[in-house]
Amino acid sequence: MSSQNPWTPSSWRARPAAQLPDYPDPARLAAVEARLKRCPPLVFGGEVMALRQQLARVAEGKAFLLQGGDCAESFAEFHPDTIRDTFRVILQMAVVLTFAAACPVVKVGRMAGQFAKPRSSATETRGGVTLPSYRGDIINGIEFDADARTPDPERLVRAYHQAAATLNHLRALSHGGYAGLDEVHRWNLDYVAHSPAAERFEDLAGRIGEALDFMRACGLGADEMSALRGTEFYTSHECLLLGYEEALTRREPETGLWIDGSAHFLWCGDRTRQIEGAHLEFLRGIANPVAVKVGPSMTPDELLRVIDRLDPANEPGRLTLICRFGAERIARHLPPLVRAAKREGRCVVWSSDPMHGNTVKTAAGLKTRRFDRLLEEVRQFFAIHRAEGSYAGGIHLELTGQNVTECTGGAMAITDEALASRYHTHCDPRLNADQSLEMAFLLAELLKAERQTLGAARASSEEAVGG
Ligand code: PEP
Ligand code: CO
Repeated sequence: MSSQNPWTPSSWRARPAAQLPDYPDPARLAAVEARLKRCPPLVFGGEVMALRQQLARVAEGKAFLLQGGDCAESFAEFHPDTIRDTFRVILQMAVVLTFAAACPVVKVGRMAGQFAKPRSSATETRGGVTLPSYRGDIINGIEFDADARTPDPERLVRAYHQAAATLNHLRALSHGGYAGLDEVHRWNLDYVAHSPAAERFEDLAGRIGEALDFMRACGLGADEMSALRGTEFYTSHECLLLGYEEALTRREPETGLWIDGSAHFLWCGDRTRQIEGAHLEFLRGIANPVAVKVGPSMTPDELLRVIDRLDPANEPGRLTLICRFGAERIARHLPPLVRAAKREGRCVVWSSDPMHGNTVKTAAGLKTRRFDRLLEEVRQFFAIHRAEGSYAGGIHLELTGQNVTECTGGAMAITDEALASRYHTHCDPRLNADQSLEMAFLLAELLKAERQTLGAARASSEEAVGG
């Protein structure tokens, strides 16, 4: 089957689909999907296209993509404080990057719809009992009993409503005054302990406050300062549960474009990116910016086919490649991929996900990630792009604004033994607020160096053209 066949929101149904659950009652599933088709989309086409333009700036090396949030959102953790705290830490990270590296930051949450999870095994066995694996709250329950683990279509509706309320809260936080730069001091206030990262942020907030006072004293009025009073914040999730995505995909009458209204930005997971598979088929037809996770099994040829499938017109901002190799493997796998894309003149955003290739188990059997290994992958990601003359344009993190203990290390030196005290994730281990902020300060240094190199290269090429 070729990609030339006509695309429709349901054309994926004729393709092999990895990682989709088996619903015991397909008629009930179809009825729920029909209900969702009558529900309003969560995002608007104009916002989606604005994000595409922002990502085009990233592809051109003029901005940086910051994407983060839960591995899996859950029904149990749904609370305004959880939403605000994750939003706030992303905002703090963005301020650190913008200020230190003088670089615009495109902020995207793994939020308001990040419910469905791919699993390496379809079943889980405990004490001789085998049940379907937990696949995220939009599909089944995490409790280990047959009832909870049976996929239930009603969960799609509940996830939709939770995503709608979460997005509504994010919009209020973005534009209702909370996110204004004048509030930068307040974002730090309820930090429990005074961690080194929080202290560094306090210092930065002081400098931003002085800069704002200076601008006001120079006579900049409310109108000129209005851009600093709110922020643009976008949503994203893995495009996994295709029936849900199809139900929220609508054709814009004005433009004729198909917009997946479940989120601004959607990505294809490393386990579902088969070139002839259902997931790439669905993603190729929507106008949203899309991404693909790129792991160690991706070859340069395969990558070029993925790029052709999702971005045949080579439009900057359309496609992001989220690299997740692991600190041990990135040096071997990334350079040939960057070279292949460059050789073919493909304009993509390169982003680093240092989380998914660096998951380990502690002696006690908890899944964790070591902060220094994450940093090592990020450092290598920047170094490789520098060596290849390419732009390291983004970071993709699993994080929360809560004070959890799921990843080890960082300035607060969380140990294996300490993990159990606040290990709350429904899937993979996340950076806590301190670790996220610490990551942002280190990223800022890498980004600053990258932008200085880029600036020097641009200046010398302009000189060459001019002379
Ligand atoms: C994820 O982002 O949570 C995930 C499952 O990633 P990957 O597809 O890269 O394994
Ligand atoms: Co994950």
